Amino acid sequence: MSSYIITGGSKLEGTVSISGSKNASLPIIAASILNGGTSKLYNVPNIHDTEITLKILKILGCKTDKKNGKIIIDSSKMNCHEIPDDLMRQMRSSVVLAGAILARFKNVKFSYPGGCDIGARPIDLHLKALKKLGISIEKEAGYVKCKCDEIKGNEIHLDFPSVGATENIILASALAKGETILSNAAMEPEIEDLQNFLNKMGAKVQGAGTNIIRIIGVKSLKEVNYNIMPDRIETGTFLCMAAATSGNLEVKNANSNHIIPVIKKLEEAGCRFNIKKNTILIESSKRLKAVDIKTMPYPGFPTDMQSIFSSMLSTAKGTSIVVENIFENRYRYINELKRMGAKIDIEGRIAIIKGVKKLSNAQVEATDLRGGAALVLAGLVAKGKTKVSNIEYILRGYQDLDQKLNKIGAKIKKQY
Ligand code: EPU
Repeated sequence: MSSYIITGGSKLEGTVSISGSKNASLPIIAASILNGGTSKLYNVPNIHDTEITLKILKILGCKTDKKNGKIIIDSSKMNCHEIPDDLMRQMRSSVVLAGAILARFKNVKFSYPGGCDIGARPIDLHLKALKKLGISIEKEAGYVKCKCDEIKGNEIHLDFPSVGATENIILASALAKGETILSNAAMEPEIEDLQNFLNKMGAKVQGAGTNIIRIIGVKSLKEVNYNIMPDRIETGTFLCMAAATSGNLEVKNANSNHIIPVIKKLEEAGCRFNIKKNTILIESSKRLKAVDIKTMPYPGFPTDMQSIFSSMLSTAKGTSIVVENIFENRYRYINELKRMGAKIDIEGRIAIIKGVKKLSNAQVEATDLRGGAALVLAGLVAKGKTKVSNIEYILRGYQDLDQKLNKIGAKIKKQY
């Protein structure tokens, strides 16, 4: 179990560069198997979750090569359609590979992803939609087996705009017979990135970014080079860290349009912005003001920013009310934050944060990826040395977090 040792109290100042998006990379890496040839992906973040996805592809028979953010995937010899149980457990979002494997082989077997660190995360919406595409589903001894002779386009309405289910439906329909019309689709920018990638391969996908997506199945897809979009949650994380430390930070390689609700709430809390093409400048000179947030599907306030934003609000002036509407178990980091002196009460999906002037140092443990980043933020503002252990969670989704922070004035060391 590795840790970060953070000496708090420094303002974040200078320039930080944002890496490629984790949540866009994962479905795009999955989609790369659809052309039965080579895909070259640029700006892929060097994080644990992309490692695991590539490990799965290798086990399925793909050749992969990785260097400086560039990944080459050759799926021409892919011959296996079973996702190994141990890797499926390590990364529940690997369920998005199911749609891609089905499109290519009309057959996939994977273990049922169980409950997890942020909520139950069932896959009922994925399976219901796959059935609509003519795929038979059998659940047996903890495994899900899906197969069909042909994937047939259909009209699908999602009961909830699930990101993963939307991606799985697009992937499964890309090579299907006929047209799929998906309504109440998730509208996250990562889905638009997946659409752009697939269309560059020759697919016919329209409407990603809106709640109706139309996929006209094509017979085959061609080889492709693609540049992954910047990570909007990493962008928001650095903005909140700068805001909490009264810093003055330039965030490069970012897309401000993807995080409008975060920027608006930071403005409400007292931060000032200067937004240029691909660069966001944030200035925060005094104690932040309390603000209320409610997580919602995109374009609402992102659930992935909830813990980081709440941690920032723990030292704001006044009382903030936070409502987590997406994942039922995303407040686990709060007990750790309380060890550092935060005053937060939880009532079901609501957290009431009474801002304190200072946090104090403590030994705390990351409970999940974003909750871990929230504790790092707390360590940056706390007095003295904070130890955040179990940072393996953080390494799943943030590339070089300690190195990037040290370059902008933080004092953070990794300890093995
Ligand atoms: N849900 C169902 N049934 C389903 C699918 C989802 O009930 O079949 C529920 C979930 O339990 C949850 C809600 O719907 O309560 C939203 O889940 P969604 O499917 O939209 O999330 P996801 O695809 O599993 C992705 C991101 C998450 C991000 C969510 C919401 C990836 C790899 N993961 O997850 O990212 O929080 O969308 O925006 O894209 C993270 O990066 O830290 C992270 C957890």
